[in-house]
Amino acid sequence: MPKKINKNVTWVGKVDWEIRSFHGEEYSTDRGTSYNSYLVRDKKVALIDTVWKPFSKEFINSLKKEIDLSKIDYVIANHAETDHSGALPDLMEEIPDTPIYCTKNGLKSFKGHYHKDWNYKEVKTGDKLSLGNKELIFIEAKMLHWPDSMFCYLTGDNILFSNDAFGQHYATEFLFNDLVDTEELYQEAIKYYANILTPFSSLVGNKINELLELKLPVDMICPSHGVVWRKDPLQIVNKYLEWSKNYQEDQITIIYDTMWDGTRKMAEAIATGIKEVDKKVTVKLFNSARSDKNTIMTEIFRSKAILVGSPTVNKGILTSTAAILEQIKGLSFKNKKAVSFGCYGWSGEGVKIITEELRKAEFDIIDEGLRVLWNPDDEGITKCKKLGSEIGEL
Ligand code: FEO
Repeated sequence: MPKKINKNVTWVGKVDWEIRSFHGEEYSTDRGTSYNSYLVRDKKVALIDTVWKPFSKEFINSLKKEIDLSKIDYVIANHAETDHSGALPDLMEEIPDTPIYCTKNGLKSFKGHYHKDWNYKEVKTGDKLSLGNKELIFIEAKMLHWPDSMFCYLTGDNILFSNDAFGQHYATEFLFNDLVDTEELYQEAIKYYANILTPFSSLVGNKINELLELKLPVDMICPSHGVVWRKDPLQIVNKYLEWSKNYQEDQITIIYDTMWDGTRKMAEAIATGIKEVDKKVTVKLFNSARSDKNTIMTEIFRSKAILVGSPTVNKGILTSTAAILEQIKGLSFKNKKAVSFGCYGWSGEGVKIITEELRKAEFDIIDEGLRVLWNPDDEGITKCKKLGSEIGEL
C-alpha cells in the first residue's frame, strides 16, 4: 500500500517479509527486506526505481490505484540489478514510450537483462531533469553497488534517492528511521555495508566526500531497501564514512570448524589466552559450519584481528572453513591481522593452507599458525592459551 513521504513524494514499493536469502543464497535476510520505489509528483511525474520481479504484477496493480500510469512522464532507473528493475518489463508494456533515465552502464545492463530497446535517456553526474517547480539532479555512484548505480537528488524537497547505498535488508511497516528500533536498524545497516560494500570502501569514501562537497541540503535520504532516513539523515552518511576507513572495533573474532572437538578446544583456549591479557577486548567465537556466514563477515568487519581454524582432512581443510575463506577473500578487508590454527592426525597441511588463503586475502599474518597433534592435551591447551595471549598483547 502506498505511503506518503511528504506531500509530493509517495513510497510505492513492496515490503517483503518472507524473503530469507538474497543474491541467491549469498545473503541471509532474517528480517526480510523491502524494494523501495518512489513516485515524485510535480508538474511532471517521475517514478524512481521499481521492485523485484516476483512482485511485478502486485506493484503495477497497486501503482495503478495511486496514479493513471499514462501520467508518469519519466522512469528513473538508479540501478539495473533486478531487485529494483524487475518490474520494468511489465511496466513498460503499459507505458512503452516513457523515457527511462539511467547511466551509460545502466543502459548496457538493462539491455543485457531484458533485451529490450526501451526509450533510454543516458545521464551522467550533474545532469538535471526538470519536473516543473523542482529538479532531479543525477549523481553517478559507480560500485555503490554496481558499475551502473546512481543517486538522484530532488531539489526543493532536499531528498537524496540513494538506491542501495544507506539501505538495509529490513522489513518494517514503519517508513522512517525514527519509528523503528535503532539497534535493529543499525545491525542491518552494518551487515549490509560489511557484506555488500566493503570491497568498494575507497569508492564509498570518495563518493560521500564528493556528495558533501556539493553542499546540497539533505532533509531525507530515501534508499532502495529498508527505511527512509528522516531524523538526522546524515547520521548514516557519517557512519558510512567511518565504515569506509578500514573500520575496526576492539574485537577479535575466532572462526573455526571441528570434527571431533579438538579444534573447538583450541579455539576456546585461544579465547581464554586473549582474555587473560586483555580484559576489555571483545572476543567472539563462531563455528563456521553452524553460523550464519553473513553474521561472520559482519563480525570480521568489526574486528582488528581474526583467527581461523580447521583440522586437516584429506590433506586439506573442512569445507565450511574453505567457504568462509573464499568469502573473506572476496570482501577485501583491509588493515586486519590474522592467525590460523587446527588439529591434525597425519599429514597436517590445514594450518598452512589457511595461512596462505589469509595471506592472499591481504590479512597481516602475525604468526604462521598453531598446529596441535590429535586432540589437545594440557600441553596443547597451554600452547593455544599462549598464542591467544600473544595476540591479545599485540
Ligand atoms: Fe538492491 Fe544492488 O541491488
